[in-house]
Amino acid sequence: MRHFLTLKDFTKEEILEIIDIGLEIKNNLKNDVFKKELNMKTLGMIFEKSSTRTRVSFETGMFQLGGHALFLSNRDIHLGRGEPVKDTARVISSMCDMVMIRTYEHSMIEEFASYSKVPVINGLTDSYHPVQLLADYMTLVEHNANENIVAAYIGDGNNMTHSWMMLAAKLGFELRIATPKGYEVDAEVLKETTELAKTSGGKIITTNDPKEAVKGATVVTTDTWTSMGQEDEKEERIKIFNGFMVDENMMSLASDDAKFLHCLPAYRGLEVSEDVFEKHADIVFNEAENRLHAQKGLMVWLDKKRGE
Ligand code: CP
Ligand code: NVA
Repeated sequence: MRHFLTLKDFTKEEILEIIDIGLEIKNNLKNDVFKKELNMKTLGMIFEKSSTRTRVSFETGMFQLGGHALFLSNRDIHLGRGEPVKDTARVISSMCDMVMIRTYEHSMIEEFASYSKVPVINGLTDSYHPVQLLADYMTLVEHNANENIVAAYIGDGNNMTHSWMMLAAKLGFELRIATPKGYEVDAEVLKETTELAKTSGGKIITTNDPKEAVKGATVVTTDTWTSMGQEDEKEERIKIFNGFMVDENMMSLASDDAKFLHCLPAYRGLEVSEDVFEKHADIVFNEAENRLHAQKGLMVWLDKKRGE
């Protein structure tokens, strides 16, 4: 049995296989072909933070595969009233076939997985957001932008950045990260991914200069400056991140036809300008839709592994 907590535990071949399954399911869906690959199976979805895309995509995806998803907000289940994670894990995994969790500390999901009898999927922690990267890469494949990637991530060194680092290290492409001083990526993740990248041909570069990062990039991406749980820091961050907005000026330094990605929700006038966002809206909303297809690929893959 396998869990999906970070991309670190997956080989390049496995990541590509999951995306291929997702693309096949997406193609089938466009032709009204629904294979009930998870017939009668249930996905428990524990949410300790808000979500639009993650909830809708997992719930819809499970339904389209013939299964059922349960939305479990921590306001409604006893986890939010102090029932231990390890007890919650043993109960839910005795009734559900898979569990998706969105939470704060990454260690919570690791603890849950260690007590779970069924695969656990990370639907975002403070440290990683790996399902988003499956959708992002799928989008690059669909736009024929997955060869010779030079990606630039501009903004906060957060869960999205760490997941981009893992993807670059596993698939072997160049990722340049520009953050303001004091908002750099986690040093341990940098060490780990730099080491991993040595064997894949990838490269992780960090800087405090967004223009340096974006120069010639084939993919430009960013994320909110204020992640969930950091709301109290919002005003201070807006001041510190001045100069890190992805605007037309910044995009003009990237390669011709550079793709812009954003995991959403997007805050116009902060991490991205209105004109850049709207110019690239087609790819960004395809990226959002691909959450549905990539995650169906992931759930089918995890279910297959469980049966092996
Ligand atoms: N990108 C993403 O995970 O969106 P939600 O927070 O809406 O789930
Ligand atoms: N970094 C953001 C991602 C939202 C999908 C957050 O954690 O809030």
